[in-house]
Amino acid sequence: MPEPTKDYDNLPSVSPLGAPLDWAWLRGAKSEWGVRPKPSPRGLTMLDIAVGSYGEVPDHPTHRSMAPRGADIEPGTPDMGYILNDKVDVWADNTRELYEEAVARQWSATRDIPWNELQELDDDVEHAMCQLCTLLTEVEMIAADLPAKWMWRMNHEFIEAKMFLCTQMMDEARHAEVFRKRALANGGGLLLSRNGATSLLRTIIEAKSYTQATALMHLLGEGFVLDLFRMGELIAPSDVEKRIFRMCMQDEARHVAYGTMHIRYSVEHDPDVAEEVHEALDHGEMILTEFGTAPDVSTALAVLLAGGVEHVEDKGFPLSLEMTKKQFSSYLARCERAGISRLERTKIPLDMLGIDIETIRNAGRAA
Ligand SMILES: [Fe+2]
Ligand SMILES: [Fe+2]
Repeated sequence: MPEPTKDYDNLPSVSPLGAPLDWAWLRGAKSEWGVRPKPSPRGLTMLDIAVGSYGEVPDHPTHRSMAPRGADIEPGTPDMGYILNDKVDVWADNTRELYEEAVARQWSATRDIPWNELQELDDDVEHAMCQLCTLLTEVEMIAADLPAKWMWRMNHEFIEAKMFLCTQMMDEARHAEVFRKRALANGGGLLLSRNGATSLLRTIIEAKSYTQATALMHLLGEGFVLDLFRMGELIAPSDVEKRIFRMCMQDEARHVAYGTMHIRYSVEHDPDVAEEVHEALDHGEMILTEFGTAPDVSTALAVLLAGGVEHVEDKGFPLSLEMTKKQFSSYLARCERAGISRLERTKIPLDMLGIDIETIRNAGRAA
């Protein structure tokens, strides 16, 4: 920028109330002035403004304050108590894109679900749907609590990652809302909550590091929920639930995409992270398998997939097994993409599930 030509020296040095005044900011600063990012066709995005030094995310920030990245920062800023101060701790290369997508695709569980179209269902199917909704209402909010637990500990220089996690928390509130509403909306209600779900949630919330927590939650837990939503067309007893699953699915895909890319970024930049993630997943896979085979989860799903109790054995359980196979396959392929191959290490009974290792490897490579 050109040197200021105005005479700033004549500006008052004391306010009308006698407080000292500082006009130094008028003289420009070390930060990049004159940068004028151009809006893209969809508007001025976070990607558009990631220009020059404003777009540079430091590997090891020197500040631990809430000063905006790219501003001139007064020396001696207070320490906010951040413990996640390295880029590898939280970053993923898709955070800006995912944040923009999240903001653009927010929806309303009140307005965007055709609640008036709900029809009376067979009692068993309604019960099964309500049992599934009870479980989903319970587990959805862990994916809000977990980022909340860690976010205030993340260095403010990683603002885009924090902004994305805020969208995830809002998404999860809406998921808890929509499944709670569905449980109540058609005469069923909330059914049985078992201890198994809470054990899984405790494992996630108590993870020792954020990266372990994100592996357990984004990669494993939410990955499985994402595949459940993907099967929504088969599970849903009516178009209302199909719509619910579709809307939730697009949100969940973003959460899983962040987690996958975060683990990948961490492992690429700090190979020691891989073992830490493996240890978390060794334990997480075991707990999740126990949870997935819990007697009420598996039966509720089988009834929904069979359209009632009559065909639960010849249709419900075979479809349910297909679904489990798909969930484990896409989880393992996701691990490949994240750079932490589980194929040689997992205790998941791949043979029993009919999962072929080479197919997973290729799926991971192709992504
Ligand atoms: Fe969710
Ligand atoms: Fe989620």
